[in-house]
Amino acid sequence: MTYQTDRLRDLVAAELGRARDRTTLLTEAVDDGDLTRQHSPLMSPLVWDLAHVGNQEELWLVRDVGGREPVRRDIDELYDAFKHARSNRPALPLLGPGEARKYVATVRDKVLDVLDHAPLEGSPLVDRAFAFGMIVQHEQQHDETMLATHQLRAGAPVLNAPPPPAPAAPVTGEVLIPAGPFTMGTSTEAWALDNERPAHQADVPAYWIDRAAVTNAEYAAFIEAGGYDDPHWWSTAGWDHRQAAGLTAPQHWQRDGDGWLATQFGRTTRITGEEPVVHVCYHEAEAYAAWAGKRLPTEAEWEKAARWDPATGRSRRFPWGDDPPTAAHANLGQAHLRPAAAGAFPAGASPLGVHQLIGDTWEWTSTDFHPYPGFTAFPYREYSEVFFGPDYKVLRGGSFGTDQAACRGTFRNWDYPIRRQIFSGFRCARTA
Ligand SMILES: [Fe+2]
Repeated sequence: MTYQTDRLRDLVAAELGRARDRTTLLTEAVDDGDLTRQHSPLMSPLVWDLAHVGNQEELWLVRDVGGREPVRRDIDELYDAFKHARSNRPALPLLGPGEARKYVATVRDKVLDVLDHAPLEGSPLVDRAFAFGMIVQHEQQHDETMLATHQLRAGAPVLNAPPPPAPAAPVTGEVLIPAGPFTMGTSTEAWALDNERPAHQADVPAYWIDRAAVTNAEYAAFIEAGGYDDPHWWSTAGWDHRQAAGLTAPQHWQRDGDGWLATQFGRTTRITGEEPVVHVCYHEAEAYAAWAGKRLPTEAEWEKAARWDPATGRSRRFPWGDDPPTAAHANLGQAHLRPAAAGAFPAGASPLGVHQLIGDTWEWTSTDFHPYPGFTAFPYREYSEVFFGPDYKVLRGGSFGTDQAACRGTFRNWDYPIRRQIFSGFRCARTA
């Protein structure tokens, strides 16, 4: 047990370090002006995310788990995401870049000491290092948010990464998923968040699901066919939004003669037809699917395609099995700064041959964000419960900007159906 606990402490320390390395990369890639500026009213200044990451770490690990004295109780209110809308955060008396870096480093030093001494079993908060895992995921989630802020930032490119691998063989078409119950959600995943719990049976009628996400070329065909001009393909709310927001193409696209250019992290190039479309809102995804004679998958359909193993009937942690992702399985963790074409990760396919459910782009589902049967808010209501209801749609699978610590077959993300500054795409399904 001691050996296992020591291994768990080492794992937690490594995961905390990996998250901090990424935060450091994202916040040191720009100058102080770009750190404190607001690049979009939808986003916080990067320097707010930085100190907020440290503040959450202080609240949960230094004070709650560690029972230590506060580092900076005076700034709690500034970094409470529920107290200040993102658009108002630049006007707050935030810590400057130097102060924020010093603060997060001080908190981290204390947390590593807490980690050396805290019990990692017993209460649900510390059992199997849950609170540490929650904080690792929180920092990685903010890193993805900061990456989205980088995408909205104007100016010369500052982030670099190699292109994703090319497809081994192209992946097209659909797969039939037979009717029947499967286990959705989890009661055993150590660092699963409250909204992923508990495991329960979900019964899904037979359906077809696309083996790959909708590509830029496919989406461009929808535009060329007048998809943005025909309310027939759009829901009432979707058409209203399309009109009000003046949507004509995915965010960051611009016309270039007969084709399209897209800007990614300060670099503008012609779109790559085979890559998944990204930066579309729910309404756009829904309209495309209708035009294509299909629909978006429900959340249960997405998860069954990603986890259900027809040979054993059990649900896997990931499409490829229970092992954590490697670079061969999925495009995750900002290793590449764009989604990969379908077929680039054959080792990550599901048993039935559905590809790249994990990584590349978040995938819109048609399901509103609701609790699973038996849901219990943990460790606080504001993590998930206050967001349940018809205002949010569930997205699944993670993007190229999602770290593996915050991505698994059960992981649920949610956002407003009009949002597209996130790395969102989709795949289609249809009833069999
Ligand atoms: Fe947060």
